[in-house]
Amino acid sequence: YTAEIDASDIEKGTYAHYMLKEMDEQPAVIRNIIQHYQNENGDIELTEGVRELVSEADRVYIVACGTSYNAGLVGKDILERIAGIPTEVHVSSEFGYNMPLLSERPLFVFLSQSGETADSRAVLVEVKKRGYKALTMTNVPGSTLSREANETMLLHAGPEIAVASTKAYTAQIAVLAILAYDIARATGKELPFDLMPELARVATIMDSIMAQKELFEDLAERYLKTTPNTFFIGRGLDASVCLEGALKVKEISYIQAEGYPGGELKHGSIALIEDGTPVIALISQPKTNLNIRGNVKEVVARGANACIISMQGVEHENDDFILPHVEPLLAPLINVLPVQLMAYYAALARGCDVDKPRNLAKSVTVE
Ligand code: G6P
Repeated sequence: YTAEIDASDIEKGTYAHYMLKEMDEQPAVIRNIIQHYQNENGDIELTEGVRELVSEADRVYIVACGTSYNAGLVGKDILERIAGIPTEVHVSSEFGYNMPLLSERPLFVFLSQSGETADSRAVLVEVKKRGYKALTMTNVPGSTLSREANETMLLHAGPEIAVASTKAYTAQIAVLAILAYDIARATGKELPFDLMPELARVATIMDSIMAQKELFEDLAERYLKTTPNTFFIGRGLDASVCLEGALKVKEISYIQAEGYPGGELKHGSIALIEDGTPVIALISQPKTNLNIRGNVKEVVARGANACIISMQGVEHENDDFILPHVEPLLAPLINVLPVQLMAYYAALARGCDVDKPRNLAKSVTVE
């Protein structure tokens, strides 16, 4: 085949780091995905093969590692709420030898930027041996996981070079949402909003956030530059984005970071909050707004240095950093940007090698 890559895709150009370039590419990636998955009438169009696979399934098992796993957590909520199909998300390296009870007609979805992750491949080999069907969502056409699965949905994000994954995360969420909408339409479910125009709006809002990077450089300076540890807290979808925020911070700035569901903090980890511990709260979901603000008060009362990143559409407070409104179900596509940027600027401020963090590889081909 011919890969859709031109030389400028794999060069940094004027960017200081691949990670910065790739974060910046996210609005274009979303637009690219819209283009690839809609027909001339603006309707979602998946291949017959993918449609057949999903129409046979009674439950989805998302299997992935690292950032792809975190994207899968967001995908679970979208698939269940939009398509009404029960969905489980599993870490590949656990799933392989500790397989849960499976439904009668399981569909395995392998999420993998590279399509080469050995832990995920081991699961794919095993489920195929058992005669089950698999769909791979990957950024790399012709990759091992793509070739060995029954069907592939491409992420169309262009090559991702930085070890810390950014645009593949948002691409995976967008493609999972497209899959959810297609299933919902095929099964006659009522759709809460029009996905493709909303994704287009997401891309525009992403542009505006990326145009104001200095704001997040300031936040990184204020909250993360010198701290040994930090917490990201949120509820529901925000809690899933918190896991990704914490992962980004750990990977590239080596700050000990935990992503936590806000309500769970008091059951143990709040013991770690000291004077000045930075706690970054993500609040995009109206229905959990008051609860998570309660959690922020709990940590502030114990000395935490809290930073609230909320979204228009939730009742906010004066000190909030407020992001533009999108449909709450798609909020992870927006509120992950500030945390990616904060992780990037924190790593820079701490003198870390952003694109090649210690001990990590872009693609892990051993189990
Ligand atoms: C490695 C990378 C991570 C990535 C994970 C899964 O550990 O360092 O950034 O999220 O693999 O990779 P995949 O290509 O399967 O999405």
